[in-house]
Amino acid sequence: MKRPVLAANWKMNNGPTAAKAFMDAFVSSYPARDDRTIIIFPSALSLSVVAAAIKNRPGLLAGVQNIHWAEKGAFTGEISAPMARDAGASVVLVGHSERRHVFGETDAQCAKKCAAAAKAQLAFMLCVGETIQQREAGETESLVIRQLREGLSQTPNLISTEFLLAYEPVWAIGTGLTASAADASAIHTVLRAELRDMIGTRADAIPILYGGSVNAGNAADLLAADEIDGLLVGGASVEASSWLTIAQAG
Ligand code: PGA
Repeated sequence: MKRPVLAANWKMNNGPTAAKAFMDAFVSSYPARDDRTIIIFPSALSLSVVAAAIKNRPGLLAGVQNIHWAEKGAFTGEISAPMARDAGASVVLVGHSERRHVFGETDAQCAKKCAAAAKAQLAFMLCVGETIQQREAGETESLVIRQLREGLSQTPNLISTEFLLAYEPVWAIGTGLTASAADASAIHTVLRAELRDMIGTRADAIPILYGGSVNAGNAADLLAADEIDGLLVGGASVEASSWLTIAQAG
């Protein structure tokens, strides 16, 4: 029996006031259930609101969307892994496609962020995925394998590190185009095999989420695929009503 992970990436939405309204609505309607994990990735400004709302709610976690790899110092505008943990985050997104493509984040930087998270005992969710050009050029598999290998390359003791993967094809993010469950499953299988090569049977315990235009209408079908262990949801996670449906899908 898989224990799905349903993750809401609010991106640059829901400041503290909206986050409070969202969490009040979500937490009061979401029944306590121990068959799944829910993660909310708010903006860093709304983290304390989300962290307060999920206190004493097992199975609900708060995360951050990004960290810097240094522990502290002169990095104006950045937050560190220990700071995120201190503020109530238990997970961080690393290498989200918007970080890679809008902000120029490289595999080498992702690797440093994964290592920094692991050091601070913050779980990380490493995101990988191809652009439409890379897909059409037949490069998807080699690209996601490179992103996976390089992203994890600086984290020692991977076997005892808590992490998750998210496969998010760039062409499916925010576009309304969703990868079919079969397409996503094929890439998840590639990632799982690569992980097994790296960390043996421990790979089987690493959740691999799919993300890209997931919504209340397609979440259950995607989640039904054996290889899809969870969903990373952007646009459809910003409103509590739609998130409530997705969080209970399957
Ligand atoms: P989307 O975004 O659901 O709006 O496509 C997913 C993501 O970027 O994590």
